[in-house]
Amino acid sequence: MPGLLLGDVVPDFEANTTIGPIRLHQFLSDSWGILFSHPRDYTPVCTTELGRAATLCPEFTKRNVKMIALSVDSIEEHHGWSKDILAYNNDESVTEFPFPIIADDNRELAVELGMLDPDEKDHTGMPVTARCVFIIGPDKRLKLSLLYPATTGRNFDEILRVIDSLQLTAQKRVATPVNWKPGDRVMVPPNIPEEEAKCLFPAGVFTKELPSGRKYLRYTQQPQMSG
Ligand code: BEZ
Repeated sequence: MPGLLLGDVVPDFEANTTIGPIRLHQFLSDSWGILFSHPRDYTPVCTTELGRAATLCPEFTKRNVKMIALSVDSIEEHHGWSKDILAYNNDESVTEFPFPIIADDNRELAVELGMLDPDEKDHTGMPVTARCVFIIGPDKRLKLSLLYPATTGRNFDEILRVIDSLQLTAQKRVATPVNWKPGDRVMVPPNIPEEEAKCLFPAGVFTKELPSGRKYLRYTQQPQMSG
């Protein structure tokens, strides 16, 4: 089973969470969304990841991205573990965990969404939930997915960076190059003819000369986002 592919509508599942029962699409409303999974509560790598995600929550909110995590284990365990995560963060200004965690006790969602890590088993011999990230657009379609094994923690600063690229490229006809950061130059995609590029990018298009003579490496200033 391939799980979710880019462009698929993310299933409108029902789930029990630390803020009560939700339906995914209603929870997301018109926002962007990030759904990310964890192998288990009270585990070290997951604690560091959720700690960083909680610290960065205002940055996700600023970008109109609603956060929701998923871990096997119960709501009760999620609540207890959330307190550990906040203590790990050592930031007394945050007293409540800032986003919901889904209780996927029976792994139903992890299986449905293709989130399992076959190489990492729990004490009963079952594969654990992998470290999956789905970025969901306001149209409820999958815009980006990451799938890391249980033993490799993710980089939530990088996830914010890709959200900046996804939101920019959803609105403007540009692409972002290697290691791009907001404010850096962007690339003119190959499917835009030269004359059209001149009109689209009044700030100018710089074309890098290459041994092949092909004019495909084209830069322009990052256009301003509207709204
Ligand atoms: C962890 O979160 O530390 C972890 C969970 C499952 C397997 C390996 C590490």
